[in-house]
Amino acid sequence: MHMSLPPNADLPTLRNHLAQYSQSHLVQFWEQLSAQEQDRLRKQLAEIDFEQLAQLVAGKDDEVDFAALAARSTPPPSVDARGEGADWTVEQALAKGREALSQGQVAAVIVAGGQGTRLGFDKPKGMFPIGPLSERTLFQIFADRLLAIGDAFGVSIPLYLMTSPATHDETVAYWEENQWLGMSPDDVRVFCQGTMPAVDARSGRVLLADKDQIALSPDGHGGTVAALKKSGCLADAQRRGVRYLSYGQVDNPLVYLCDPGLIGHHIAADSEMTTQVVRKRYPTEKVGNVVLADGKVQIIEYSDLPEEAAHQKDDDGQLKLWAGSIAVHVCDVDFFQRMSDQADALPFHRANKKVPYIDEHGDQVSPEQPNAIKFERFIFDLLPAAKNAFVVEGLPEDVFAPVKNADGAPADTPELARQAMVEQARRQLEEAGIEVAEGVQVEINPRFALDAEALRSKLAGTKRIERDTYFQ
Ligand code: UD1
Repeated sequence: MHMSLPPNADLPTLRNHLAQYSQSHLVQFWEQLSAQEQDRLRKQLAEIDFEQLAQLVAGKDDEVDFAALAARSTPPPSVDARGEGADWTVEQALAKGREALSQGQVAAVIVAGGQGTRLGFDKPKGMFPIGPLSERTLFQIFADRLLAIGDAFGVSIPLYLMTSPATHDETVAYWEENQWLGMSPDDVRVFCQGTMPAVDARSGRVLLADKDQIALSPDGHGGTVAALKKSGCLADAQRRGVRYLSYGQVDNPLVYLCDPGLIGHHIAADSEMTTQVVRKRYPTEKVGNVVLADGKVQIIEYSDLPEEAAHQKDDDGQLKLWAGSIAVHVCDVDFFQRMSDQADALPFHRANKKVPYIDEHGDQVSPEQPNAIKFERFIFDLLPAAKNAFVVEGLPEDVFAPVKNADGAPADTPELARQAMVEQARRQLEEAGIEVAEGVQVEINPRFALDAEALRSKLAGTKRIERDTYFQ
């Protein structure tokens, strides 16, 4: 059983506890610390479950044979982008989704705890200006969408926004300074995810970032479930009568948060967790692979999928593992509640990373090679536990333009995301019968028009757009 430290433990208690787990070095500099610094370290130590950590270090949690799992995997139960594969029609799904929205049964969850290191942006990624003409930030894009959907259905849609210690304060300040981006402050709850200590890869010893500071990193987006509960957001959702959470990552401006179609398929399938996918463009694309294995829908992360398994074909010569996760889900609030009551509902994944630390002499070390193991939980590992987990295919041009890498990289850059946004706006205008001249950039704020039908009535009389235009 986990014996945690009391938050006010004295030095002998700390020493005694840490010695049981060969982590005594963590209080090695205790005498050199001010009372305030000691207090900080004491609090951090009290948050760590050393028993669990010892098991993770011993590798007891990490025994999946992914090659074998991939070999026995088949495509998951799904409805494809043309609406085929389900026992209900797209119209029936849409009607269900619209009903849930208009009854205020839907809230949004955005995860924004990542540090965006690959992008090379030193603020929280949600503050990245992505609007091709408007330069709206990712946060503003999502706020606009939620406001537009709320208006369309005559409700206000709550947003639960997850940060991590690295992004929390700046994120809160940004929303406050910008008047909650037009949303009602009552409808936005920013909550911080938990952390896990990084351990030295060879010795299993927890690393110190400083003499009074454990090397901590976010516990992965799987931490959403526990953090939603701990922060009171789950209870808030229940109080509001919310039944479905529309979940997306802050890094993808094309996420159609609170999409009535996706929510409708989720309800029609009587599913507890539904995930949106795109058809993988190539076998080793860096997306999670959604599969059915051992009777359960699950995701094999790209980094775990052996190359050979990624290339498997079906009888028609198509990729067998075709369903690429875009990390967009719809989950039942009751399902999250149930899972949050189970401490071990989600396994930990390990990643080898470069983590700066101080050595036994108190000197700073910045390793050139991965030196540490970080432990993370992934939200999609909930899928196997969900009743009737279901998969909905979207077209990449409509739903997936992640901002992961700096411009110049071959994929997932801001430039490509902006292009995708412009092309999507162009398609919507054309669908509304409005021509867009070659080379002209267009951007549509969903608050101006949520779909082609709304565009048609807003822009009645406009036949052709000749110059760059932001419809706001
Ligand atoms: C992720 C998915 C992958 C999916 C792809 C789609 C994982 C492990 N893999 O890959 O299956 O195909 O996105 O774009 O997620 N985050 C937190 N807290 C954390 C860690 C991450 O909030 O502790 C958030 C980040 O802010 C970001 C998102 O989760 O919005 C994704 O994290 P990232 O590490 O960039 O995942 P990818 O490797 O891109």
